[in-house]
Amino acid sequence: MNQIKLGTIGSGFIVHYILKGVKATEGICLEAVYSRTEEKGRELAGKYGAKKVYTDLDDLLSDKEVNFIYVASPNNMHYEQARAALLQGKNVICEKPMCPRKVEAEELIALAEERGLLLIDATPTAFLPNLSIIKEKLPEIGRVRLVMSCYSQYSSRYDQLLAGNVTNVFSPEFAGGCLQDINYYNLYLNVALFGKPEKAVYYPNICHTGVDTSGIAILQYPDFVSECTGAKDTWGDNSVQIQGEKGYLYIEGGPNGLERVRLVTKEGETSYDQQDNPDRWFYEVQNMTKMLQAEDYDTIQKNLKVTVDVIEILEAMRKEAGILFTGE
Ligand SMILES: NC(=O)c1ccc[n+]([C@@H]2O[C@H](COP(=O)([O-])OP(=O)(O)OC[C@H]3O[C@@H](n4cnc5c(N)ncnc54)[C@H](OP(=O)(O)O)[C@@H]3O)[C@@H](O)[C@H]2O)c1
Repeated sequence: MNQIKLGTIGSGFIVHYILKGVKATEGICLEAVYSRTEEKGRELAGKYGAKKVYTDLDDLLSDKEVNFIYVASPNNMHYEQARAALLQGKNVICEKPMCPRKVEAEELIALAEERGLLLIDATPTAFLPNLSIIKEKLPEIGRVRLVMSCYSQYSSRYDQLLAGNVTNVFSPEFAGGCLQDINYYNLYLNVALFGKPEKAVYYPNICHTGVDTSGIAILQYPDFVSECTGAKDTWGDNSVQIQGEKGYLYIEGGPNGLERVRLVTKEGETSYDQQDNPDRWFYEVQNMTKMLQAEDYDTIQKNLKVTVDVIEILEAMRKEAGILFTGE
């Protein structure tokens, strides 16, 4: 793969983090940005050195210099925008959750394959060096019996919700809610480590818009049970604990940061950490670029399988819990 020349969709905080990573990474650069407003587009382009600013998405998608589109719009727009990009011959890096529904994710994957293009899920967890450590150390704790994952992050948008202003992330129109946003990371880590559970049930706290502001998901695996707590309306001490018959793994910072991994067994305790940079998106951009430059299609496919499984579980749990997005 030659130089990755990005065109971005969206101008939220995540785009800034990703573009900071792009600036620090060889083999990838920002070619163009798309925003609905010229002013925001110019600001983004100026800050991260893009040559072009578009306010018409079709213009971005027909830019011949751009070979990858980074989709960082509200959840409900990912499918349409990623599809349009693939149809225009562009590779796509899509923010999580790739799509609210499994059928849409599968359609995008099939379309990318049919056109010989790449579709990448931008979930940071997949690119963190400490994920490999967790996978490597897992056998040392013996048969896993219990998993507890907690990610609670009080959102300024929750304050807005309480004040009567419904932003995209709490709107069923934009496929919002805590499960799609925050608890997603707990689910992703579980599926990346253990595969699909046999059964998954979500117990949400639902707000007046009909989506969840926090909740607990219980995943039943053949040999163990896993509890996933996520919140946008509280905050707490985030961590993941995987308990086995011979010891446990304690992951600091929760499922999206995987900051430090402690392995505790009867023989003693050891800490592991291959992430000296606290910016998780730095690793995401670095490792995603390496993966693309190495044409590591095997990892891309394996990651997509995790993505589709996560989306399938999210969709089923959400619908069973009565959280329906506009049009469902
Ligand atoms: N990987 C991570 O760690 C991480 C972290 C945060 C968010 N995310 C994901 O990134 C995505 C974006 O999140 P966000 O919080 O930035 O979302 P957001 O603020 O609701 O929207 C993102 C961007 O989309 C555009 N947009 C907003 N409303 C729109 C509308 N009604 N129609 C068309 N475009 C609209 C805006 O860009 P313009 O005004 O420039 O057009 C906005 O900056 C989500 O899918 C989220 O799950 C991922």
